[in-house]
Amino acid sequence: MPDDPRTLAVLTSGGDAPGMNAAVRAVAKVGAARGLRVVGVEDGYDGLIDGRFRPLTFDDGNGQFRAAAEVDRLSGLGGTTLGSARSPRFRTAEGRSTAAKRIEGMLGLVVIGGDGSLTGARALGSEHGVKVMGIPASIDNDIGCTSSALGVDTALNTIVDACDKIADTASSHRRAFVVEVMGRRSGYLAMAAAIAVGADGVLLPEHGRSEEAVLDAVEQLVRAGLGKAGDKRRVLVLKAEGVAIPCTKLVRIVEERMRALDATIEVRATVLGHLVRGGAPSYFDRMLGNRLGLAAVEALLAGASGEMVAWLATVQGGSRTNDPSIRRFPLDQVLDETAALLDGTSPVTQWRLRLLESVEGVLPL
Ligand code: F6P
Repeated sequence: MPDDPRTLAVLTSGGDAPGMNAAVRAVAKVGAARGLRVVGVEDGYDGLIDGRFRPLTFDDGNGQFRAAAEVDRLSGLGGTTLGSARSPRFRTAEGRSTAAKRIEGMLGLVVIGGDGSLTGARALGSEHGVKVMGIPASIDNDIGCTSSALGVDTALNTIVDACDKIADTASSHRRAFVVEVMGRRSGYLAMAAAIAVGADGVLLPEHGRSEEAVLDAVEQLVRAGLGKAGDKRRVLVLKAEGVAIPCTKLVRIVEERMRALDATIEVRATVLGHLVRGGAPSYFDRMLGNRLGLAAVEALLAGASGEMVAWLATVQGGSRTNDPSIRRFPLDQVLDETAALLDGTSPVTQWRLRLLESVEGVLPL
């Protein structure tokens, strides 16, 4: 790949997220408009180590660049057209050194991904002086400094649609359902969706409950709703996958306990799994991807590096951009805030839980 300061590389890394393609589109379109050759890196950091590049622009013969035709349809495509991977090789100093050599001399690298991907981007900058700019992408919404990452809105719409469908059949048969949603270390998806679907309860890793306490909370909810004194047609509980007890085990034990009281009570489990990560991006994620992509290219052209562009920042500080809704934060601050989000010490996590508790009066747990 050319050792050329007019070349910009972009990669997607970690768990894919709807909206990643919209960000790739914006990087290609804006880069070409600003006189840059833009290349996509295939399969994240693995492809960078191997030097697997895909041109996203072409020279129009007048020394200018135009975005390739494939770029036009990217905004509305789910997943990531560049491919993604979790790269053990990149976790080694040798792997990162090989990767850095592949883009030596280029203007810089846009990294679209989550916590691990942004950690890798920071290492490329600190260890090899690579100019990097991060774009937050993680359906878990577990990235610091940004109120939303790419993929969150689409994932929530998918969960809401699934829960509405489940609530239909649950009400028809007067059943309880526990619906498990993704969110490896963060309960944000379960929390936000629970309010949106009018769930009767939500189970979050942030609650820090024991397995027995989780069982008791769900049993109590089912008893209140479907037991002798209960008047509900359905009980719907959302469970974040980070709550350790397997969904099927939870449901089996609660049903056994309830059956001891009333043999007609039925409790079912639905695990949404990777369904939550697929699908065409929503308007919001397309808009977010394009605006973050634009801001990332403009930041690198302005000489910034080692940062992430954040949407409606959740913390003070950072640098302004041409977009009033986007600020840039140093990757050190982003990754520190991400850790605080996940260990619960961040005011953002505490605010989100307080919001849920205020609604929890409606969500009797
Ligand atoms: O990090 C996003 C995420 O979707 C998590 O919610 C989920 O636990 C994980 O990725 C699944 O990873 P994989 O696709 O590698 O199984």
